[in-house]
Amino acid sequence: MSNRVYIKTVGCQMNVLDSEMVIADLKRHGYTVVDSADQADCVLYNTCSIREQAEEKTYSALGIIRQEKEKDPSKVIGVMGCMAQKDQELVFKRAPYVDLVVGPGQLHTIPTLLDKVRGGEGRQMAVSLGRKSGSQLEIARSHETFDPLRDPTMRPTPFQAYLRIQIGCDKFCTYCVVPNTRGPEQGRAPEQIYAEAKILAEQGAKEITLLGQTVNSYRFKHEDGTVTDMASLLEQLHDIDGIQRIKFVTNYPKDMTERLLETIRDLPKVSPYLHVPAQSGSDEVLKRMKRGYTVADYMAMMERIERILPEAAISSDFIVGFCGETEEDFQKTVELVKRCRYKNSFIFQYSVRPGTKASERLEDDVPRVVKSRRNVELLAVQDAIAKEDNLKLVGTTVEVLVEGPSKKGVKNDEGDHIIQMIGRTHCDRIVVFDGNRRQAGQFMSIHIDDASSHTLVGRVKTVEVVSIGSLV
Ligand code: SAH
Ligand code: SF4
Ligand code: F3S
Repeated sequence: MSNRVYIKTVGCQMNVLDSEMVIADLKRHGYTVVDSADQADCVLYNTCSIREQAEEKTYSALGIIRQEKEKDPSKVIGVMGCMAQKDQELVFKRAPYVDLVVGPGQLHTIPTLLDKVRGGEGRQMAVSLGRKSGSQLEIARSHETFDPLRDPTMRPTPFQAYLRIQIGCDKFCTYCVVPNTRGPEQGRAPEQIYAEAKILAEQGAKEITLLGQTVNSYRFKHEDGTVTDMASLLEQLHDIDGIQRIKFVTNYPKDMTERLLETIRDLPKVSPYLHVPAQSGSDEVLKRMKRGYTVADYMAMMERIERILPEAAISSDFIVGFCGETEEDFQKTVELVKRCRYKNSFIFQYSVRPGTKASERLEDDVPRVVKSRRNVELLAVQDAIAKEDNLKLVGTTVEVLVEGPSKKGVKNDEGDHIIQMIGRTHCDRIVVFDGNRRQAGQFMSIHIDDASSHTLVGRVKTVEVVSIGSLV
């Protein structure tokens, strides 16, 4: 039996990492990876439930794959990830040609379940326990991941890697599906994280991005009662040779402590880049979202960052059109964006998620057109700020880690000549410049000539050759 697998990943960095693990596992079981669904014996969709649109896209993609299945009934179709956990049996109802449904905490079962489906045992499903379907420990165990199994060839680039330090979330923001799909918050043991980071460094990772839903709330309680927090974890990881940059997402505003900020300041490998979503600039809305802070708390955090890490770049997420959001509430969000001058913000229109507190208790009363207008307005304010701040960098030199050709670069790539390359600064700013593929994975100095709201445009800084005595 031929074992070709195709995996399609949508959603956040957690899903990118999960797909990397599943592929590593399947390769160990004799599978090879192919580039498209039509060449594959098994097609896996790694899915996201964060907004309805993300799910609808997946269901329509599954609708298209149905034709493939009709042509070749032996083709196995699997749905994994957050939508698998959230919808469970509903996936089979909405897409009857799906053979396999596996939640993010059960990904290690995929090779066995694929064997069962292919061996004629019918549909298979493996999901984690619901938030009330067992003892605390049983629920937590059922959501645990199997991160040390990794496959470097599945990474977006060989020199960048994600490293999960925290599973799940216990914040239960009223709009959010993640505490249900990913289960209880669990910090992974620092020894495990350290060992994994060392392996990543040996495999050539120069930049690691630590992942958690509220990554700066990271805590691990040891058997002797001592606790490792985010600041201590960063200090430990900083020692590892080969790793030159450490980033982490996503931060929770209330846990951005002075101690953590001072640690970031004192550890040169840790990027002075903080993604700390505010979600709204209105106290009433924040309260209905159950975010656990006020605008004043958030601004106090911004003041701490400004004082301890004045060079840091800050980014945010916002939800517009949440239940009961008035025009006045929305204008407060606009004000917050103006005060914080974010490097960038991701702006989302509120989408009701079944199973969340907001879906049960609050009315989705902001019309779609109003959500869309607020989205456009907030984005325009954010983009104008980003452009102004990026233009201030024109004339300076920044150091980037080169990631590879830009989209434009790929189009022009017909050999080894100059193409547009893309890199990122320590502060996570995107820089494009003319270069060549061999530069990917290198740190380079780029002189900035121009800027837009999302991108800096520069050129490789030519090194001046200075005569240094005996060395020349
Ligand atoms: N754990 C992270 C975010 C995870 S989800 C945090 O708390 O910051 C990524 C973003 O999706 C959120 O920050 C939020 O802005 C958005 N989001 C989450 N649920 C949403 C919903 N129901 N509708 C619209 N946007 C949502
Ligand atoms: Fe969702 Fe809130 Fe947890 Fe972020 S902190 S994952 S928004 S519940
Ligand atoms: Fe989506 Fe799950 Fe990530 S819902 S955003 S894939 S944690």
